[in-house]
Amino acid sequence: MTACYSAESTARRILLGVEGVLNRIFGADLNPFYHLGALGFYFFWVVAISGAYIYAFYKTGIELSYPSVEYITIGQWYLGGIMRSLHRYASDALVVVMLLHLLREFILGHYRGARWFAWVTGVLLIWLIFAAGINGYWMVWDKLAQYSIVSFIEWLDWLPIFSEPMSRSFATQEVLNDRFFSLISFAHVTVPLFILFLFWVHIMRISYPVVNPHRGLAAGMLLALLVLALAEPALSQGPADMAVEPRNIRIDWFYLYLFPLLDIWPAGQIWALVLGTSLLLAMMPWLPSRFRQIPVAVVNLKDCSGCRLCVADCPYEAVVMRPRSDGLHFSEEAVVVADRCVSCGICAGACPSSNPFRGEDNFVSGIEMPSLPMSGLRAAMMDDIAKLRGEVRIMVVGCDNAVNIERFRSDSIAVLSLPCIAMLPPSFIEYALHEHHVDGVFVTGCRVGDCYHRMGVLWSELRLSAKREPRLRSRAERGRIKQFWASSTDSKELEYEMASFRANLLGIKDSL
Ligand code: HEM
Ligand code: SF4
Ligand code: SF4
Repeated sequence: MTACYSAESTARRILLGVEGVLNRIFGADLNPFYHLGALGFYFFWVVAISGAYIYAFYKTGIELSYPSVEYITIGQWYLGGIMRSLHRYASDALVVVMLLHLLREFILGHYRGARWFAWVTGVLLIWLIFAAGINGYWMVWDKLAQYSIVSFIEWLDWLPIFSEPMSRSFATQEVLNDRFFSLISFAHVTVPLFILFLFWVHIMRISYPVVNPHRGLAAGMLLALLVLALAEPALSQGPADMAVEPRNIRIDWFYLYLFPLLDIWPAGQIWALVLGTSLLLAMMPWLPSRFRQIPVAVVNLKDCSGCRLCVADCPYEAVVMRPRSDGLHFSEEAVVVADRCVSCGICAGACPSSNPFRGEDNFVSGIEMPSLPMSGLRAAMMDDIAKLRGEVRIMVVGCDNAVNIERFRSDSIAVLSLPCIAMLPPSFIEYALHEHHVDGVFVTGCRVGDCYHRMGVLWSELRLSAKREPRLRSRAERGRIKQFWASSTDSKELEYEMASFRANLLGIKDSL
């Protein structure tokens, strides 16, 4: 188990290292690793648009398919040919970004707890995307189509579902009539519609999902596809002929890798591999793990005014409003949908009742994390601050998923780590600075564009720059507040920024 976790954290370090390099080259907006899901959508649209063009010229039928694809590819090389290549290469790119997206979400542990929904629908997407891709190759009816369809039917025959092996009738040309081609062609249009529907389901429990990559990234990807289309146009591999076994076939390794494997492994083993891997992936969210879900957010109606700020800020559609049930004069009240909540605490950071200036010792907020209530947070923060000594006293607030800030704790530095940095209501910063409890507040969390809880860094930036509710009030002196976003592997950079912040605070002190 320990070895498994150290492998997981090594994978995470490698991922953060690669993403750090890409950030330096492209910046967060253009870093493809931060937009893998959006790139998946983008490539899907490129496939859909180029496919619609090809389909307009495609002729369905055993004698018609191959010549019509040849016409599109060669007769119309300047547009049809380019569209065909775009269709193929964007489909390949879709597989690449999908698998990288899967790997990234896996490494980040984004398959656990309430995220099971996106994970399991993702696993279903893999099946549909491969089904559409493999089916697409059959539409061409060239030697590659012949090779892959015959292997597929033989593979299917292994399952005890057909009384008569299908491959026997496939050996003759008779099943390959125009109706069969209509079926393939119908499937190639309907499966992508299911994919689109599943895309929508996949992101149903995500607020503000990013489904369009940044324009620059989209343009760069399209350019790359076009260059590939011109340099290496997608071509057919000679017409299929059931009487002759195809040889020297070039395989598309993104979609058709199972077929060469079928040549060397028994069909049963390949079924076991494919079904076993899918089942294992689908069950990941429920496999034993060291991960412990902290209790989900709870609403305290007495302190909820129905302002909807928690609904607006929850990244997982886990807070909804319903008509008031307690007779208070507000029209609505917030309700947490427990099985969608990932316990990030962002809602508690958004609630106007999470205000440390409130007089009561045990004040209660409208929405709270039971394991870390706001009054407890204030008490812990003030306890730590009370122990600070030295010329410059700093409060560092960070996120459990970014740099471990505990290592910065010292006589002059107090630390407060939260499940997400956006759990921090801006009024807590004001409170810490108020009456010179501390000289400065240093706020840190995941890298920009890579928030573990999706929206936390963005919401914090907007709240602290007074562009989003709850806003940091103007009386909180901005020169005494520093934000620096860093991943768990960026502690050196954070140390440097802290030292420079400290020097600035010292300068402010000296100038008074
Ligand atoms: C081409 C297919 C796929 C597309 C287009 C796609 C797209 C997306 C998009 C747009 C998001 C929201 C990203 C955001 O705004 O934060 C997302 C989230 C997610 N996807 Fe996919 N996805 C695909 C396949 C998969 C697969 C195969 C898996 C894993 C089995 C997966 C797992 C997840 C998870 C776990 C999340 C939630 C991440 C979080 O909670 O922060 N996706 N996907
Ligand atoms: S803790 Fe709050 S913001 Fe986070 S997922 Fe749960 S309800 Fe949404
Ligand atoms: S932010 Fe607080 S007061 Fe506003 S609706 Fe949510 S729980 Fe109620």
